[in-house]
Amino acid sequence: MSGQNLSAKIAGTGMAVPAKVWDNFKLATMVETSDEWITQRVGIKERRIAEDNEYTSDFSTKAALQALERANMTADQLDLILVATSTPDMVLPNTACFVQKNIGAVNAAALDICSACSGFIYGSAIAWGMIKSGIMKNILLIGVELNSRILNWKDRGTCILFGDGAGAAVWTACDASEGGMLGVVMGADGNYADLLTLPNSGCRKYPEYDGTYITMHGNETFKQAVRTMNECALEVLEKVGLKPEDVDLLIPHQANIRIIEAVQKRLNLPPEKVFVNIQKYGNTTAGTIPIALHEALDQGLVKKGDILLMDAFGAGLTWGAFVMKWA
Ligand code: UT7
Repeated sequence: MSGQNLSAKIAGTGMAVPAKVWDNFKLATMVETSDEWITQRVGIKERRIAEDNEYTSDFSTKAALQALERANMTADQLDLILVATSTPDMVLPNTACFVQKNIGAVNAAALDICSACSGFIYGSAIAWGMIKSGIMKNILLIGVELNSRILNWKDRGTCILFGDGAGAAVWTACDASEGGMLGVVMGADGNYADLLTLPNSGCRKYPEYDGTYITMHGNETFKQAVRTMNECALEVLEKVGLKPEDVDLLIPHQANIRIIEAVQKRLNLPPEKVFVNIQKYGNTTAGTIPIALHEALDQGLVKKGDILLMDAFGAGLTWGAFVMKWA
């Protein structure tokens, strides 16, 4: 396999979420909200919350081991570990290094990707590029977030939206005739950086914020989410020469059920072709798509030859989508 014939497919997936569940009724005891409002306006019923002694690398490691097992691969076969997260254990060293140690991936390089909810798309593009160019063969990509650590639990505009969890996928080289990744688009617009931020999380200090927690302009973020997700889904389909009706399953970023429904309508897809699990986990940021993919596989919703469309947007703004033929 070389050159044009070389592509990448996902050989195995895994997921790990905290055991602790907080439903909407629990949140209604913390801020002025209700199960009815959250269910109708966002589509979430409950989310997972990590214990104080559970860390991003713990969930990443569990998801990684499951993905390796399902890929029928050992950790020493990995060339690279990518961890897409905005909530690393610490900034230095990166979380990918902790995972590398935990799973014994002695031959792997380690890199974190900080692109918020688009992290799994960006990471898949990097994995595909590295594999397609022949530089690497097997790449573990993890999308993970411990949002509970960076939420203002007094702000009902944000704290009801997010949850904790990790999803993992092992990308491996394949012959393009088998299928695998067909194409990807990615984009960003830093002019919208203010819409969704985590001030005081880096070396720049913001005294107007008395801590480190997510700030968001919900309405504007919503509009940009619908716009960017619609645009990049259509763009990537056009790029690979497919039409919305060719898609067997759309796995969108799970931020708000109304955003997902807007994309579904724009692509004119029936509801059964759109995977939704936001009701169980909320928005796990970089974790939503790999967790959803893992659950879709477990539920038997994906078969060989199916066309899958992954579509995301996030802080930055960043956005991206890719199409793959399941192999
Ligand atoms: O991965 C990227 C992450 N971010 C997103 O994707 C978020 C995108 N934005 C959204 O999902 C929505 O904008 C929200 C769910 C955040 C808010 O929904 P909305 O329909 O845009 O509500 P709104 O901000 O326009 O507020 C409507 C009303 C307001 O009350 P008034 O002014 O009409 O009296 C809010 O104060 O709803 C109120 N409200 C709430 N009420 C109960 C806002 N949050 C809550 C809440 N519970 N949690």
